Amino acid sequence: MAFPTNRLRRLRKTESLRQLFQETRPVASDFILPLFVKEGTKSPEAISSMPGVNRHSLTSLVREASSAFSLGIPGVILFGLPRSKDPKATEAYNKNGIIQKAIRILKKELPGLVVITDVCACEYTSHGHCGILDKREVANDPTLTLLAKIALSHAQAGADMVAPSDMMDGRVGAIRKALDNRGLKDTLILSYAAKFSSSFYGPFREAADSTPSFGDRKTYQMPASNSREALREIEMDIEEGADLVMVKPALTALDIITRAKVRFSLPVWAYHVSGEYSMIKAAGRLGWLDGDKAMGESLLAIKRAGADRVITYWAKEAVKFFK
Ligand code: PBG
Repeated sequence: MAFPTNRLRRLRKTESLRQLFQETRPVASDFILPLFVKEGTKSPEAISSMPGVNRHSLTSLVREASSAFSLGIPGVILFGLPRSKDPKATEAYNKNGIIQKAIRILKKELPGLVVITDVCACEYTSHGHCGILDKREVANDPTLTLLAKIALSHAQAGADMVAPSDMMDGRVGAIRKALDNRGLKDTLILSYAAKFSSSFYGPFREAADSTPSFGDRKTYQMPASNSREALREIEMDIEEGADLVMVKPALTALDIITRAKVRFSLPVWAYHVSGEYSMIKAAGRLGWLDGDKAMGESLLAIKRAGADRVITYWAKEAVKFFK
């Protein structure tokens, strides 16, 4: 049917009409808040490249998680900054490491909050890579043992969901096996299945002190040029037992989100990463655009592309923005 019989502007005439025709309507339970927790810090430390985001102490972590939970945000994902690092990331699976302590205190203080943990070595290795090195290469299979140990320590501390972000081959299977062997059959695995090698992780690496000391992550993270390979990554993780998968970054991979949503029937989450957050914050501060509106528009686009849930540093603000 053509114009003038059809006029799409009829649908947009008033605010109420626009509301009635709004297809994508984010609510609080669409969002997951990432939180950084640092060993040995007394009060929250600001992260210069991520305005509004802090490295928390255990006390301020609970306060922040509690304020998110009371807004209706169902879950948080945790990243740790340990007291010490070594080549083998031993702090990452320390029973009394910062993440393990954070999980225990959050589950005690906020039992209803879903606690998700990032499972990776890069914040715990002295070289900043996501696994065990063999000369200057990240060795895949020895890293699987390490990742399984880390995931197990998180699950034993009470994490509801573990989220491997390292991009080694076979990690989901190795983690599932380790969890099942210890009777932790209900711990969910959220796989960072399609994780691209990206400059948009820059601010995160400042926040988490996890910049590789040499080279880059291109031998394990995906090249931005490939979409069919991203679907294979997802497919493999599903076969190995992932309960849900994630695509990351979000805005530069909206096509992958849509294709994964159409092709697979498990939940597809997206991570609106640090750089995606920081660049809007920066432009907003310079007065070059309206930061809140730009952030809202980005999150809408990610949902519209098909993401079931979105991990975002703007989760609390988003709840208020979309009210
Ligand atoms: C750990 C990890 C990274 C992010 C999540 N988990 C950094 C990286 O891969 O270098 C990035 C998250 C963000 O940028 O917000 N491997």
